[in-house]
Amino acid sequence: MRIMVTGGAGFIGSNYVRYVLGAHSEDEVVCFDKLTYAGNLENLKDVEGDPRYSFVQGDICDEAAVAEVMARVDAVVNFAAETHVDRSIQSAGEFVDTDIKGLYVLLEAARARGIARFVHISTDEVYGSIAEGSFTEDAPFAPSSPYAASKAGGELMAQAYARTFGYQILVTRGSNTYGPYQYPEKVVPLFITNLLDNLKVPLYGDGLNVRDWLYVTDHCAGIDVVLQKGVLGEAYNLGGDKERTNLELTHTLLALLGKGEEMIKHVADRPGHDRRYSIATAKARALGWAPQMGFDEGMTRTVAWYREHEDWWRKIKDGSYKEYYRKMYANR
Ligand code: NAD
Ligand code: DAU
Repeated sequence: MRIMVTGGAGFIGSNYVRYVLGAHSEDEVVCFDKLTYAGNLENLKDVEGDPRYSFVQGDICDEAAVAEVMARVDAVVNFAAETHVDRSIQSAGEFVDTDIKGLYVLLEAARARGIARFVHISTDEVYGSIAEGSFTEDAPFAPSSPYAASKAGGELMAQAYARTFGYQILVTRGSNTYGPYQYPEKVVPLFITNLLDNLKVPLYGDGLNVRDWLYVTDHCAGIDVVLQKGVLGEAYNLGGDKERTNLELTHTLLALLGKGEEMIKHVADRPGHDRRYSIATAKARALGWAPQMGFDEGMTRTVAWYREHEDWWRKIKDGSYKEYYRKMYANR
């Protein structure tokens, strides 16, 4: 299969490119990425020389650029998105552009080209918060943040394409993902890199919000199974089944880095902060997928990776990130 991987220079996308090239010796990958602040070709350095890999810099909102690459592939996996909830609260425009319009452009090109397998990477955030139990794939959307609403909007467009034009894709809705190459604005790499620098970690609100942690290679394996075996028109939840409060997560990271409670800085809550995410995974499990990585093992490996790759995150944290961090955390 020749696969166009959009957003392949980001966190999950770059892990997925590596996963596919390793798992399927016949597959070829064209990584198509705008290289926003979150896209980083260093994430793909180890596959650069692989003849089955190529890179095209482009925007999924650019119809001509998308059509040119799509003409050369049999399948599309769309990771391209603006992804950080806090940034969407500061400014939502780019989220609407990429997460809704960008998906529309991809759908239109894929429909015209007759792409048979198109997997769109969505999120458990489209369902919103759940106090008890877990959302199944038929639960209604109730997004809280501009990010989640943009992801839900993209998915609704895909549903409309299925009903109106009969063009069906596959959707995955993943839970909170962590592991190597995650941009250090998300809580796990932010807390690890702060602690490595002996800086406090900003914990929002009472710290009792719950997230379900999924190791990145488990997420990639789930996407791969859906691409190979998913039923067209269906959505699949990919959850880690490892729910933790943010306080529990913080204590795990503090222990792994040999730091104490005094490194927690309790800060103002995120507006519209969803209390708990939880998704049922039976549908994806029925395809033969299951998350393999334990929570403690995954966090241990992730801490080790950030320890060993200081050059990778130091470059990011020394650049325009500083301005973002100042604006984001100054008045909390
Ligand atoms: P990321 O922010 O690390 O990477 C996003 C990538 O998309 C970057 O390489 C960026 O350059 C690229 N991109 C952004 N706008 C683009 C555009 N207009 N055209 C082309 N490329 C563009 O994101 P991530 O955390 O790896 O998430 C990847 C996907 O998975 C997203 O769709 C996200 O919604 C979804 N998701 C993420 C998580 C998570 O916990 N990180 C969980 C569930 C689902
Ligand atoms: O659930 C899937 C989603 O997970 C993905 O769709 C998103 O792209 C991804 O960013 C992630 O969203 P979250 O908002 O859950 O992730 P984040 O790492 O920003 O925050 C995780 C939790 O930690 C959340 O409850 C807020 C809290 N938090 C976050 C930051 C950045 C803090 O307490 N302090 C912080 O500084």
